[in-house]
Amino acid sequence: MSSAEPIRQYLKDYQRPAFAIDEFHLDFDLHEDHAQVRSRFRYRKLVADAPLVLDGVGLELLQLQLDERELSAGAYEKTSESLTIKTLPDQGWIQTVVRLEPQKNTSLEGLYRSGGLFVTQCEAQGFRKITYFLDRPDVMTSYFVRVEADRARYPVLLSNGDRISTRDLENGRHEAVWKDPHKKPSYLFALVAGDLGVIRDQFETRSGRHVELEIYAAHGRQERCHHAMESLKKAMKWDEQAYGREYDLGNYMIVAIDDFNAGAMENKGLNIFNSRLVLADPQTATDADYHAIESVVGHEYFHNWTGNRVTLCNWFQLSLKEGLTVFRDQEFSADMTDRGVQRIRDVDALRERQFPEDAGPNAHPVRPESCLAVDNFFTMTIYEKGAELIRMMQTTVGRKGFRRGMDLYFERHDGQAVSTDDFAAAIAEANQADFSQLKRWYSQAGTPVVRVQEQYDQASQEYRVTLSQSCPSTPGQPEKAPFQIPIRLGFLDSSGRELPCVAPEVRVNSDGAPLLELREAERQFVFTGLREKPVLSLFREFSAPVIVDWKRDDEELLFLMSHDPDGFNRREAGQTMALRVLERLVQALKCGETPEVNWGFVKAYGQALLDERISAAEKAGLLTLPSVALFAQTQPQVDALLWRRARRTLVGALGHAHQSALWEVYRRWHGVDSTSMATEVAATRELKNQALALLASTQTSQALEVLADQYASAKTMTDRMAALALLVESDHPERERLIEAFHEQWKSDSLVLNKWFRVQASADRDGVLKRVQALMGHPSFQVQNPNHVYSLLGAFGGNILHFHDPEHCAYPFFLGWVGAIDAKNPQVAARLCSSLGLIQKLEPSLQKQAQQEIQKVLELSTLSRNTRERLEPMMKLVSRG
Ligand code: TRP
Ligand code: ZN
Repeated sequence: MSSAEPIRQYLKDYQRPAFAIDEFHLDFDLHEDHAQVRSRFRYRKLVADAPLVLDGVGLELLQLQLDERELSAGAYEKTSESLTIKTLPDQGWIQTVVRLEPQKNTSLEGLYRSGGLFVTQCEAQGFRKITYFLDRPDVMTSYFVRVEADRARYPVLLSNGDRISTRDLENGRHEAVWKDPHKKPSYLFALVAGDLGVIRDQFETRSGRHVELEIYAAHGRQERCHHAMESLKKAMKWDEQAYGREYDLGNYMIVAIDDFNAGAMENKGLNIFNSRLVLADPQTATDADYHAIESVVGHEYFHNWTGNRVTLCNWFQLSLKEGLTVFRDQEFSADMTDRGVQRIRDVDALRERQFPEDAGPNAHPVRPESCLAVDNFFTMTIYEKGAELIRMMQTTVGRKGFRRGMDLYFERHDGQAVSTDDFAAAIAEANQADFSQLKRWYSQAGTPVVRVQEQYDQASQEYRVTLSQSCPSTPGQPEKAPFQIPIRLGFLDSSGRELPCVAPEVRVNSDGAPLLELREAERQFVFTGLREKPVLSLFREFSAPVIVDWKRDDEELLFLMSHDPDGFNRREAGQTMALRVLERLVQALKCGETPEVNWGFVKAYGQALLDERISAAEKAGLLTLPSVALFAQTQPQVDALLWRRARRTLVGALGHAHQSALWEVYRRWHGVDSTSMATEVAATRELKNQALALLASTQTSQALEVLADQYASAKTMTDRMAALALLVESDHPERERLIEAFHEQWKSDSLVLNKWFRVQASADRDGVLKRVQALMGHPSFQVQNPNHVYSLLGAFGGNILHFHDPEHCAYPFFLGWVGAIDAKNPQVAARLCSSLGLIQKLEPSLQKQAQQEIQKVLELSTLSRNTRERLEPMMKLVSRG
């Protein structure tokens, strides 16, 4: 078994490839019970005497030839993961024939089956499950691919690049031949064969290249692909305008499939997508789905330059393409929707999911030093923190300077496999900047904490701020050197007017924004010429991914909540205030006192609710209470029962205090242009559904009635799901019947069922664990489908108040499933493990229970490296509680 002795790989051991591959011919013969793959490539030795070590996993080798002569058994060595030819001429041809059984491949990497199709997923190391090859990103070559299959069952035969020819063969079979004119690494290879519906469109690049666009989906579902098509065209245009990047093939294809481990994959010219990120219409997809589709279609498209044209020299550099491409898709979304609101969304996601990762047992740097399983690199840290790192570079040199750097990066490295250092060097050199300290964000894990102390002296009109930074230790990194932290800032006077910030250290970047850089462990900044104590607005637009530790007055927070010209910080002030209010409620409950909700906060919340100057989108962001995941970060120990009571107290207080204002907001927006999916309309839906949620928390019969009414008459899935989520929480007499009716209506639509599973697994009411256990056995639940697993088990694992409920221990159930799923699909099992990221903050007896169950999984003889790598660090820790 490959998992018997997991081998750790190290960045420091990386060496350039010993062979170049000049051309590569692949021939697929697809059948119901097997597939035969013939591969022929021309190699060239780059290092004298180097043996040729080909990667290959689970392959049945039928033939192996060197320069058209069969190799004798003694001429090569085969293990479960490789094939080594020790002596061979300096150049020549290798040919192999292997036999696969895609219909038995449950890992969803390599060549597998989904909904009657043959599909591939090669990133990161799936190509080695298809044929013997140098399956590493720094080996780039030209692909010629022939696909043969039954014509009736598989009329559509796709691969990367240009379709050179198609032809009918005997016995009802046919073939298609594809040639990709661009060299690529094996992880970008793709093949799709099946019977699919398609929609077509076109795009003309700014230099006049004509591109055929095609989106494929199961027959009957192609009409749900138009939003994805519009998104694709917007993305193509945007990359030309924002970065001067054009598309480079005559066609661009997207295929939507149902069984996919991740969101989508940027295979050259042939993206493969999880169908939840392609298919949309107002009846089956929510506003959030529409937004996610635009963003992910953009993301995969942007990879064509950041990832495909310029690729990685090894997997430790994954953030080179992912962090950068997330940054690019965030900017794309900002330009397509509302920049301020987009920033808030992105920071929420970072703080809710990446901060806990960085503070937990699986914390790792943006550029990791070692790993057991490369698949485990696809994390929030590599993606989202990596994007923040790029954003800090842009903030430091300004947008114009950053664009200069990007131009240089593409000019220098097009067609190459490079590293994060190469990227940083290009941006720095184009701006005569020095990134040596900024680059510590690549190598040091953990979220830095910046402590703020201020002092104002009326006599000298001086205002002093002392900033000190620290970063908690993370696995393998006990001590950290100071980070370079870019800080956007501003001052307000007591009437809310912006004051100039004058200090010798304040510099203005190419965007004209005032900027401070904290480079030391501690530093004092002195601002002069201030006639009154200014109200400091720090980290505007969230200019660095840090935690701010600042015991400032409530009054200042409430003031900034309504006056800060920076939209991010207006909202931030409200969030900080809400977290304080929750914290005080928890403290009061702990001491057995009557919990009292801070009146200033309740009042400010009510004012924002009716403030005509605030857009619906911003209002919705302002009024969103911080999630449990965010609150957990402010607490030393998880106390699910107390937190639940505190949240209910706060929500109830807001709902009761502002009933009439909430009704006003609800009635004003309910039913306005109710089927448009435009961003502004979506924002009004979000706002009115927030109002409905607070009203529902009061459980008045009027609220419950309106709720049921919205559910019954909803014209969009957004409104229907919002109402269903609240019904699930409520004690509405029709509750169970309506949940059942929803299933009855949508049981044939797997994507809508995902929502149905998720809403029940994320609920906050007694018996959630029982409900989730029952749903695992529901006839509609398919455990081999990753979307179903993420929607039910994944959502439950993220439901902190119930996953860590001390009265209903969920760990035996949850980890039992992790073990069972691991045997079929290690990537999915490993992803589920992030639910245990709070293990360090569990009270000792709960932690012990969790560890006992983790230990059982670790003892499974066939446990994958993926899951092992995630779980092992959880056994080493001592409770912090
Ligand atoms: N590269 C993909 C992206 O852009 C991620 C991805 C797709 C992936 N399929 C995968 C990661 C399978 C791990 C396993 O985000
Ligand atoms: Zn990506």
